[in-house]
Amino acid sequence: MAPAKIQRTAEEEPDICCVPVDSCFLKGHLKTNGKAISRPPQRIQLRLKDLIMQNDVKLIDFLRDRHSTPVAQMKEPGPSQEELDAILTFATRVPDHGKIAPWRLTVYRGDVRKTLGEQFLAIASKKAPDMTDPAKEAELIRFSRAPLVVGVISTAAPHAKIPEWEQVLSAGAVCLNMVMAASAHGFVANWRTEWVAYDDEALALLGVKEGEKVAGFIHIGSSDFPTPDRPRPELWQIVSYIGEN
Ligand SMILES: Cc1cc2nc3c(=O)[nH]c(=O)nc-3n(C[C@H](O)[C@H](O)[C@H](O)COP(=O)(O)O)c2cc1C
Repeated sequence: MAPAKIQRTAEEEPDICCVPVDSCFLKGHLKTNGKAISRPPQRIQLRLKDLIMQNDVKLIDFLRDRHSTPVAQMKEPGPSQEELDAILTFATRVPDHGKIAPWRLTVYRGDVRKTLGEQFLAIASKKAPDMTDPAKEAELIRFSRAPLVVGVISTAAPHAKIPEWEQVLSAGAVCLNMVMAASAHGFVANWRTEWVAYDDEALALLGVKEGEKVAGFIHIGSSDFPTPDRPRPELWQIVSYIGEN
């Protein structure tokens, strides 16, 4: 299929959105033979429909290179409400045995991220009163490194037909789908848990109820940091074949 059309001017295009080139899902279109065409790291204008209407060739390019951006490299802007609605909608289109949606989402954004940081620090310093200044700072900014954080909360519970394990897996699928949905809208994302996902006091502050578990906190933002990939397992290390081709 022909590649999606990239629009370069905003004036005559009322339905455009801004996407940083380096983090754009469509960045494969700016490459020739795998090498990026020299282009200044400016924001280009794309039609929203061009971002959403991906063909499978672009998906292949995306999946070949996909990797996360460190939370420490994230900055504003985060998604608009409209973009966030799309990201959350796409993220929750996941396999879900029994169609029971065994997960829910909580968005942490704005000033509440700073308040949470202060509360995380209070909990952490009760446990380790001699925290260093950098450790204290890490708590204060834990939910403020990215413009927003989405909690993917597993509500898996005993069910007559659907094993709990499968419900948990579906929540994991939401997490990765959200990382990819954020990329599809020109943002970067990182799937984290960190200690706050396992501390009862922190979980209460985060609105996670008893019996629920945090599948991930997905940090979403922008970045122009050229994140290097990390080592990946070789197929021979992880694949066995049973039967002949
Ligand atoms: C369930 C889960 C929890 C994670 N929690 C953390 C974490 O607390 N801290 C951390 O540094 N990385 C954590 N990671 C790893 C980050 O997502 C990491 O950036 C990721 O492995 C990058 O892989 P990618 O480049 O293939 O997306 C977690 C990953 C998963 C799947």
